[in-house]
Amino acid sequence: MSKLWGGRFAVETDQLVRQFNDSIRFDQRLWREDLDGSTVWARGLARAGVLTDTEAAVLVDGLAQVAAEWETGTFTLQAGDEDIHTANERRLTEIVGDVGGKLHTGRSRNDQVATDFRLWTKRALDQLMTQLQAVQEAMIASAEAHHDVPLPGYTHLQHAQPVTWGHWILSHFWPLTRDAKRLALAHELADECPLGSAALAGTAFPLDRAWLAAELGFTAVSQNSLDAVSNRDFAVEMLYACAMIGVHLSRLSEQIILFSSQEFAFVRLDDAYSTGSSLMPQKKNPDTMELTRGKSGRLIGRLVGMLTMLKGLPSTYDKDMQEDKEPVFDAFDTLMIVLPVMAGAIKTLIINPEKMAAQLEAGLLATDLADYLVKKGLPFRQAHHVVGAVVSLGEQKNVPITDLTLADLQGVSDLFADDVAQAFSIAGSLAARSVTGGTAPAAVLAQITAAKAAV
Ligand code: ARG
Repeated sequence: MSKLWGGRFAVETDQLVRQFNDSIRFDQRLWREDLDGSTVWARGLARAGVLTDTEAAVLVDGLAQVAAEWETGTFTLQAGDEDIHTANERRLTEIVGDVGGKLHTGRSRNDQVATDFRLWTKRALDQLMTQLQAVQEAMIASAEAHHDVPLPGYTHLQHAQPVTWGHWILSHFWPLTRDAKRLALAHELADECPLGSAALAGTAFPLDRAWLAAELGFTAVSQNSLDAVSNRDFAVEMLYACAMIGVHLSRLSEQIILFSSQEFAFVRLDDAYSTGSSLMPQKKNPDTMELTRGKSGRLIGRLVGMLTMLKGLPSTYDKDMQEDKEPVFDAFDTLMIVLPVMAGAIKTLIINPEKMAAQLEAGLLATDLADYLVKKGLPFRQAHHVVGAVVSLGEQKNVPITDLTLADLQGVSDLFADDVAQAFSIAGSLAARSVTGGTAPAAVLAQITAAKAAV
């Protein structure tokens, strides 16, 4: 079978160059989108009077047969099948004969691949969105089940103030809602039809581009053919969304790894979401979280690789752009396993409120003690200083500040009175933070309602 572009060449392409040039190895994933695009193109050619209705019907029929072969795994690739576009056209022509050669009238692989890739990306984004939402729903369920369970909150990974589990787990939910917006933006950017741009200057046949776009499910038509064949912003946007999901899940993973260590033991991954050691019989490793953390590097790399590939390209299509698909496929494949694993891990995560409670030491209430003094009229800066002195006194006496007597406290400031006991409670500290977005159990319940509305 001769190549699509063989006419002007005197010698065969070098074997290695062929290997180098071919993209069929990975772009065969676009078979369905390629056939969808070609089917609409054949019908469009007939509408424009370029093909007869009979010719178009033969092509459409033939394309359906090619689709059936892909579907059933009976499509056989041949050595000359450079890419999916070439392979599908070659097979179509075998099935329908010479009329197959009319399909490519007025189009180029440049607008064809841009169209196929956009169709594929839109479908992929829909699937990613569903998987992302499943993770979010698992987080909401966990927040609901343990909305008021207290644990230490950390800054600099040092004890800071008490927070609730519901608040903590939802702190990993909101980043994913932002990622969902990024996926939606990528979808919006992909939702523009380049078909009819031909190689670069626009097709010379009177095709109805708005009709083509609508038939393929696009809501808009590109406005500049030069840009349309070289625009990969939608793919970059998708990779950015994927990289951000990677980063967000990596941070969550890191914290679950820490929390499931023997030193914390706040949570336990279900056996189904951990693995063992071949050597140490006692080990239960958070491999699912570690792999998720690790794969974020790969997702970031896919984005950076794509941006780097694009940055020096003159308009319009350049063969460099054949490098656009593998990163997108890989980011998609990566998240299509990372996301469901994460959803399952969170759904089955066992939390240990006793271990969390055991870490709720008095220091976590130092801010509440300062707030107590502020309520007695002391300026906050002075209150901060007074509580510093209280902490230091506790250290001298080697007791938690909550065990200092009222007399001890009054030795530091005469503003301390009986009611200080209330300021010294975890429940009081939590309940005080009832602003929107605060950690008070009541605020967390409101947050859960907001989270449900946001999914
Ligand atoms: N396989 C090519 C790609 O993925 C299709 C477009 C080829 N266009 C061209 N003018 N050689 O980018």
